[in-house]
Amino acid sequence: MAFHMDLERILFFTLELAREAGAIIAEAFGTEHELDYKGAVDPVTEVDQRVETLILERVQMRFPEHQILAEEEGGEYRQIPEPLWIVDPIDGTNNFAHHFPHVGLSLALVVNGDPKIGVIYDPLREELFTAVRHGGSRLNNHPIRVSRVPRLAEAFLSTGFPYDRRVAEENNTRRLDHFLRRSQGVRRAGAAVLDLAYVACGRLDAHWEPRLKPWDVAAGILLVEEAGGRVSDYAGTPLPIHGRSIIASNGQLHDAMLRVIREGDAAPHPDRDPEQAL
Ligand code: IPD
Ligand code: CA
Ligand code: CA
Repeated sequence: MAFHMDLERILFFTLELAREAGAIIAEAFGTEHELDYKGAVDPVTEVDQRVETLILERVQMRFPEHQILAEEEGGEYRQIPEPLWIVDPIDGTNNFAHHFPHVGLSLALVVNGDPKIGVIYDPLREELFTAVRHGGSRLNNHPIRVSRVPRLAEAFLSTGFPYDRRVAEENNTRRLDHFLRRSQGVRRAGAAVLDLAYVACGRLDAHWEPRLKPWDVAAGILLVEEAGGRVSDYAGTPLPIHGRSIIASNGQLHDAMLRVIREGDAAPHPDRDPEQAL
Protein backbone atom coordinates (compact mmCIF):
# COMPACT_ATOMS: atom_id res chain seq x y z
CA MET A 1 0.00 0.00 0.00
CA ALA A 2 1.35 3.44 -0.85
CA PHE A 3 1.03 6.03 1.89
CA HIS A 4 0.86 9.67 1.04
CA MET A 5 2.38 11.56 3.93
CA ASP A 6 2.37 15.26 4.53
CA LEU A 7 5.44 15.25 6.78
CA GLU A 8 5.11 18.88 7.88
CA ARG A 9 1.54 18.25 9.04
CA ILE A 10 2.54 15.07 10.86
CA LEU A 11 5.50 16.89 12.42
CA PHE A 12 3.15 19.52 13.82
CA PHE A 13 0.99 16.77 15.36
CA THR A 14 4.11 15.07 16.77
CA LEU A 15 5.53 18.13 18.45
CA GLU A 16 2.19 19.07 19.99
CA LEU A 17 2.00 15.52 21.33
CA ALA A 18 5.57 15.69 22.67
CA ARG A 19 4.72 18.90 24.56
CA GLU A 20 1.51 17.42 25.98
CA ALA A 21 3.24 14.21 27.09
CA GLY A 22 6.27 16.14 28.35
CA ALA A 23 4.06 18.27 30.58
CA ILE A 24 2.99 15.10 32.43
CA ILE A 25 6.64 14.15 32.99
CA ALA A 26 7.59 17.64 34.16
CA GLU A 27 4.68 17.81 36.58
CA ALA A 28 5.43 14.37 38.04
CA PHE A 29 9.18 14.99 38.29
CA GLY A 30 10.56 15.08 41.83
CA THR A 31 7.55 13.41 43.44
CA GLU A 32 7.49 9.84 44.77
CA HIS A 33 6.60 7.01 42.37
CA GLU A 34 5.62 3.39 42.38
CA LEU A 35 8.69 1.57 41.09
CA ASP A 36 8.54 -1.74 39.30
CA TYR A 37 11.50 -3.59 37.79
CA LYS A 38 11.72 -5.15 34.31
CA GLY A 39 15.21 -6.40 35.24
CA ALA A 40 17.67 -5.97 38.16
CA VAL A 41 18.47 -2.35 37.23
CA ASP A 42 15.70 -1.64 34.70
CA PRO A 43 12.96 0.32 36.48
CA VAL A 44 9.56 1.48 35.24
CA THR A 45 7.22 3.90 37.00
CA GLU A 46 3.51 4.54 36.68
CA VAL A 47 4.43 7.79 34.88
CA ASP A 48 6.17 5.83 32.04
CA GLN A 49 2.91 3.90 31.64
CA ARG A 50 0.69 6.99 31.83
CA VAL A 51 2.73 8.91 29.26
CA GLU A 52 2.88 5.95 26.89
CA THR A 53 -0.89 5.39 27.13
CA LEU A 54 -1.54 9.02 26.23
CA ILE A 55 0.82 8.84 23.24
CA LEU A 56 -0.70 5.58 21.95
CA GLU A 57 -4.24 6.93 22.26
CA ARG A 58 -3.42 10.13 20.40
CA VAL A 59 -1.56 8.35 17.57
CA GLN A 60 -4.23 5.66 17.15
CA MET A 61 -6.99 8.25 17.03
CA ARG A 62 -5.22 10.43 14.47
CA PHE A 63 -3.59 7.70 12.32
CA PRO A 64 -5.59 4.48 12.79
CA GLU A 65 -3.85 2.87 9.80
CA HIS A 66 -0.32 3.34 11.25
CA GLN A 67 1.58 0.73 13.31
CA ILE A 68 3.14 1.44 16.73
CA LEU A 69 6.13 0.01 18.61
CA ALA A 70 6.33 1.39 22.15
CA GLU A 71 8.69 0.49 24.97
CA GLU A 72 6.28 -0.41 27.77
CA GLU A 73 3.88 -2.24 25.46
CA GLY A 74 6.90 -4.08 24.04
CA GLY A 75 7.36 -6.00 20.82
CA GLU A 76 10.08 -6.61 18.30
CA TYR A 77 11.13 -4.15 15.63
CA ARG A 78 10.44 -5.28 12.07
CA GLN A 79 11.13 -3.23 8.98
CA ILE A 80 7.71 -2.72 7.36
CA PRO A 81 6.42 -0.60 4.48
CA GLU A 82 3.59 0.85 6.60
CA PRO A 83 4.28 3.95 8.69
CA LEU A 84 5.55 2.81 12.10
CA TRP A 85 5.64 5.00 15.20
CA ILE A 86 8.45 4.15 17.62
CA VAL A 87 7.91 5.52 21.12
CA ASP A 88 10.00 5.89 24.28
CA PRO A 89 7.67 7.59 26.81
CA ILE A 90 10.45 8.39 29.31
CA ASP A 91 14.08 7.88 28.40
CA GLY A 92 16.19 8.01 31.54
CA THR A 93 13.70 6.28 33.85
CA ASN A 94 16.51 5.58 36.34
CA ASN A 95 17.25 9.32 36.40
CA PHE A 96 13.54 10.08 36.76
CA ALA A 97 13.16 7.62 39.63
CA HIS A 98 16.14 9.18 41.44
CA HIS A 99 15.02 12.79 40.81
CA PHE A 100 18.10 13.35 38.65
CA PRO A 101 16.90 16.04 36.23
CA HIS A 102 17.90 14.59 32.87
CA VAL A 103 15.12 12.80 30.99
CA GLY A 104 13.66 12.84 27.50
CA LEU A 105 10.86 11.40 25.46
CA SER A 106 11.26 10.18 21.92
CA LEU A 107 8.80 9.85 19.04
CA ALA A 108 9.81 8.64 15.59
CA LEU A 109 7.87 7.87 12.43
CA VAL A 110 9.68 5.23 10.38
CA VAL A 111 8.77 3.94 6.91
CA ASN A 112 10.59 0.96 5.40
CA GLY A 113 13.36 1.25 7.97
CA ASP A 114 13.94 4.94 7.27
CA PRO A 115 13.03 7.50 9.95
CA LYS A 116 10.99 10.30 8.35
CA ILE A 117 10.21 12.31 11.48
CA GLY A 118 12.10 12.38 14.77
CA VAL A 119 11.12 14.36 17.85
CA ILE A 120 13.02 14.27 21.14
CA TYR A 121 11.76 16.43 24.01
CA ASP A 122 13.49 17.33 27.26
CA PRO A 123 10.50 18.45 29.33
CA LEU A 124 12.58 19.77 32.25
CA ARG A 125 14.61 22.17 30.09
CA GLU A 126 11.79 22.62 27.58
CA GLU A 127 14.12 21.72 24.73
CA LEU A 128 12.33 20.34 21.69
CA PHE A 129 14.57 18.66 19.09
CA THR A 130 12.88 17.95 15.76
CA ALA A 131 13.98 16.50 12.44
CA VAL A 132 12.30 15.72 9.13
CA ARG A 133 14.04 13.61 6.49
CA HIS A 134 15.60 16.01 3.95
CA GLY A 135 14.33 18.94 6.06
CA GLY A 136 17.14 19.42 8.59
CA SER A 137 17.20 19.31 12.38
CA ARG A 138 16.07 21.99 14.79
CA LEU A 139 16.18 22.82 18.49
CA ASN A 140 13.22 24.95 19.60
CA ASN A 141 12.75 25.77 15.93
CA HIS A 142 16.33 26.99 15.34
CA PRO A 143 18.42 24.96 12.85
CA ILE A 144 21.17 22.88 14.48
CA ARG A 145 24.40 21.33 13.18
CA VAL A 146 26.83 18.77 14.53
CA SER A 147 30.19 19.97 15.88
CA ARG A 148 33.30 20.43 13.75
CA VAL A 149 35.76 18.73 16.10
CA PRO A 150 38.08 16.80 13.76
CA ARG A 151 40.16 14.64 16.14
CA LEU A 152 39.26 12.12 18.80
CA ALA A 153 41.88 13.58 21.15
CA GLU A 154 39.75 16.77 21.28
CA ALA A 155 36.36 15.07 21.27
CA PHE A 156 33.73 15.17 24.02
CA LEU A 157 31.95 11.81 24.02
CA SER A 158 29.06 10.06 25.72
CA THR A 159 28.08 6.46 26.25
CA GLY A 160 25.77 4.22 28.26
CA PHE A 161 25.76 0.77 29.83
CA PRO A 162 23.25 -1.98 29.05
CA TYR A 163 20.70 -3.21 31.58
CA ASP A 164 22.41 -6.63 31.74
CA ARG A 165 25.68 -4.93 32.78
CA ARG A 166 25.90 -6.73 36.14
CA VAL A 167 26.20 -10.12 34.47
CA ALA A 168 27.08 -9.61 30.79
CA GLU A 169 30.63 -10.26 29.65
CA GLU A 170 30.45 -7.30 27.21
CA ASN A 171 29.17 -4.52 29.49
CA ASN A 172 31.03 -1.64 27.78
CA THR A 173 33.52 -1.02 30.60
CA ARG A 174 36.56 -2.00 28.49
CA ARG A 175 35.47 0.28 25.67
CA LEU A 176 34.97 3.07 28.20
CA ASP A 177 38.64 2.69 29.14
CA HIS A 178 39.70 2.78 25.47
CA PHE A 179 37.73 5.97 24.74
CA LEU A 180 38.58 7.69 28.04
CA ARG A 181 42.27 7.34 27.17
CA ARG A 182 41.82 8.80 23.67
CA SER A 183 39.32 11.69 24.07
CA GLN A 184 38.67 14.93 26.00
CA GLY A 185 36.15 13.18 28.20
CA VAL A 186 33.24 10.76 28.34
CA ARG A 187 29.83 11.48 29.89
CA ARG A 188 27.25 8.92 31.02
CA ALA A 189 24.18 11.02 31.70
CA GLY A 190 21.63 8.16 31.51
CA ALA A 191 19.29 9.22 28.70
CA ALA A 192 20.41 7.93 25.32
CA VAL A 193 17.83 9.95 23.39
CA LEU A 194 19.30 13.16 24.81
CA ASP A 195 22.84 11.93 24.09
CA LEU A 196 21.87 11.60 20.43
CA ALA A 197 20.09 14.98 20.42
CA TYR A 198 23.23 16.51 21.95
CA VAL A 199 25.39 15.03 19.18
CA ALA A 200 22.96 16.61 16.68
CA CYS A 201 23.35 20.08 18.21
CA GLY A 202 27.10 19.85 18.81
CA ARG A 203 27.13 19.66 22.64
CA LEU A 204 28.67 16.23 22.23
CA ASP A 205 30.95 15.16 19.38
CA ALA A 206 30.05 11.45 19.37
CA HIS A 207 28.14 8.76 21.26
CA TRP A 208 28.66 4.99 21.30
CA GLU A 209 26.56 2.39 23.09
CA PRO A 210 25.84 -1.33 22.85
CA ARG A 211 22.41 -2.98 22.89
CA LEU A 212 20.08 -0.01 22.73
CA LYS A 213 16.47 -0.53 21.69
CA PRO A 214 14.69 0.86 18.61
CA TRP A 215 12.83 3.40 20.82
CA ASP A 216 16.19 4.69 22.14
CA VAL A 217 17.60 5.42 18.68
CA ALA A 218 14.94 5.85 15.97
CA ALA A 219 14.38 9.61 16.41
CA GLY A 220 18.02 10.31 17.33
CA ILE A 221 19.37 8.68 14.17
CA LEU A 222 17.36 11.11 12.05
CA LEU A 223 18.30 14.11 14.21
CA VAL A 224 22.02 13.37 13.89
CA GLU A 225 21.88 12.61 10.17
CA GLU A 226 19.81 15.68 9.35
CA ALA A 227 22.21 17.81 11.41
CA GLY A 228 25.07 16.69 9.16
CA GLY A 229 26.38 13.80 11.26
CA ARG A 230 26.75 10.08 10.65
CA VAL A 231 25.18 7.11 12.43
CA SER A 232 26.05 3.43 12.12
CA ASP A 233 26.37 0.25 14.08
CA TYR A 234 29.80 -0.95 15.29
CA ALA A 235 30.43 -2.50 11.86
CA GLY A 236 29.81 0.81 10.09
CA THR A 237 26.38 -0.14 8.68
CA PRO A 238 23.94 2.82 8.64
CA LEU A 239 20.41 3.03 10.13
CA PRO A 240 20.94 0.81 13.18
CA ILE A 241 17.27 0.93 14.29
CA HIS A 242 17.63 -2.70 15.40
CA GLY A 243 19.57 -1.18 18.30
CA ARG A 244 22.28 -3.83 18.52
CA SER A 245 25.01 -1.18 18.76
CA ILE A 246 25.31 2.45 17.75
CA ILE A 247 27.91 5.06 16.95
CA ALA A 248 26.55 8.55 16.29
CA SER A 249 29.10 11.21 15.45
CA ASN A 250 29.71 14.56 13.83
CA GLY A 251 30.86 12.56 10.77
CA GLN A 252 34.49 13.67 10.91
CA LEU A 253 35.12 11.47 13.95
CA HIS A 254 33.25 8.45 12.70
CA ASP A 255 36.15 6.43 11.29
CA ALA A 256 38.20 7.08 14.43
CA MET A 257 35.31 5.87 16.60
CA LEU A 258 34.97 2.74 14.46
CA ARG A 259 38.70 2.13 14.72
CA VAL A 260 38.72 2.25 18.53
CA ILE A 261 35.72 -0.10 18.59
CA ARG A 262 37.55 -2.48 16.21
CA GLU A 263 41.07 -2.31 17.63
CA GLY A 264 40.42 -1.57 21.30
CA ASP A 265 43.56 -0.72 23.23
CA ALA A 266 45.70 -1.37 20.15
CA ALA A 267 44.17 1.71 18.45
CA PRO A 268 46.53 4.72 18.25
CA HIS A 269 46.83 6.70 21.46
CA PRO A 270 47.31 10.52 21.29
CA ASP A 271 50.41 10.56 23.57
CA ARG A 272 51.84 7.14 22.74
CA ASP A 273 51.45 7.42 18.94
CA PRO A 274 51.18 11.19 18.25
CA GLU A 275 52.11 10.82 14.56
CA GLN A 276 49.11 8.51 13.93
CA ALA A 277 46.69 10.49 16.14
CA LEU A 278 43.03 9.67 15.47
C1 IPD B 1 17.86 3.78 28.91
C2 IPD B 1 18.63 5.07 28.76
C3 IPD B 1 20.10 4.90 29.09
C4 IPD B 1 20.71 3.79 28.27
C5 IPD B 1 19.94 2.51 28.47
C6 IPD B 1 18.49 2.74 28.03
P1 IPD B 1 15.25 3.92 29.56
O1 IPD B 1 16.51 3.94 28.51
O2 IPD B 1 18.55 5.54 27.45
O3 IPD B 1 20.83 6.07 28.83
O4 IPD B 1 22.06 3.63 28.66
O5 IPD B 1 20.52 1.50 27.70
O6 IPD B 1 17.78 1.55 28.12
O7 IPD B 1 15.13 2.52 30.06
O8 IPD B 1 15.54 4.89 30.62
O9 IPD B 1 14.12 4.29 28.65
CA1 CA C 1 15.07 4.40 26.56
CA1 CA D 1 11.95 4.38 28.57
